[in-house]
Amino acid sequence: MSTLFTNIGELWVFDVEAGVSVLREAALVADGGRVAWYGPRAEAPDADERVDLGGRAVLPGWVDSHTHLVFDGDRSREFEARMAGRPYEAGGIAVTTDATRAATDDRLRRLVAGRVREAQRGGTTTIETKTGYGLSVDEEARHARIAAELVDEVTFLGAHLVPAGWDADAYVDLVTGEMLDAVRPHVTWLDVFCEEGAFTVEQSRRVLEAGRRAGLGLRVHGNQLGHSGGVALAVDLGAASVDHVNHLSDDDVEALAASATVATILPACDLSTRAPFAPARRLLDAGAVVAIASNCNPGTSYTSSMNFCVGTAVLQQHLTLEEAIRAATLGGAMALRRTDVGSLRVGARADLHVLDAPAAIHLAYRPGMPLTHRVWRAGEPLTE
Ligand code: NIG
Repeated sequence: MSTLFTNIGELWVFDVEAGVSVLREAALVADGGRVAWYGPRAEAPDADERVDLGGRAVLPGWVDSHTHLVFDGDRSREFEARMAGRPYEAGGIAVTTDATRAATDDRLRRLVAGRVREAQRGGTTTIETKTGYGLSVDEEARHARIAAELVDEVTFLGAHLVPAGWDADAYVDLVTGEMLDAVRPHVTWLDVFCEEGAFTVEQSRRVLEAGRRAGLGLRVHGNQLGHSGGVALAVDLGAASVDHVNHLSDDDVEALAASATVATILPACDLSTRAPFAPARRLLDAGAVVAIASNCNPGTSYTSSMNFCVGTAVLQQHLTLEEAIRAATLGGAMALRRTDVGSLRVGARADLHVLDAPAAIHLAYRPGMPLTHRVWRAGEPLTE
């Protein structure tokens, strides 16, 4: 079954090989869930079905490469205290861990599914999520299993925080041994929070090396609260992505630019924690690959709105519109080492995010407005 999407005001393709970023007055054909053709509207071939998009802008679906959707409980009081001047500390993770451990499987499944639907309604068609609010063998395995039922990419983050009563090195032994074995059937990635108050560089290295031995791809939470050494570690171990990157030395920026490790910025988290924005402009100018993700979680970024993150990156972090959209699509795909999503080149999965606007600049020009009109994933409508 082929579908011709026509009357597209702006089509953001990111066809790297053909060197095409954006086309105006365009059309696209999806066939068998993949992009079969794109080009000028006047040259569009026939298809079984035709969808007139009324001159709206079309982007590849967002690729949200960093979220923590498996949680229960409320941290709005902590957020309120932060807005009154209290700094963010890693310890809040324990509050969510208690609430999440108390949730039944059915309740957790419902919560995660609801969050995935919410993200999809905002144009996200590929989503990663992490464990990290279980912090015991059984709970981490349970969260990983539930996540794997509902999202595209699952990351094991047993090394999110040292649980109360544990010696840090003994907990790292557990994470790299029994816990890793228990989650392994459900995950493809491993992540570690390399930060003061969480795990040291040496502990993080042990966790990451164990993940690598188990055949998992590597990701790192690094340099969020200070110069943690997480960026250098991620680059050294060839991690796919290092996320947060708020505090970067010149050496960090150079190392990222010379590596295949994607620097993932989390604009909504920077706002919600009142952190200095990650220096995305500096990273791009140096030649690093940048991704934008929502970091949806109850502590530091309770939003899955990639529209908001992209608008913020333009308004506050001085990315051009093209850089920001690329970072939230192709950049996210690169952070997940995926080549089938994040662009609308021929052969890519037909993930279309139709904006209720003639041009994508409206994402920054009309911040906070409900700009997602409709979403298709693999050629099938996700929203009405
Ligand atoms: O990515 N930085 C560590 N982990 C999450 C926050 C988790 C929490 O505070 O609950 C983050 O911001």
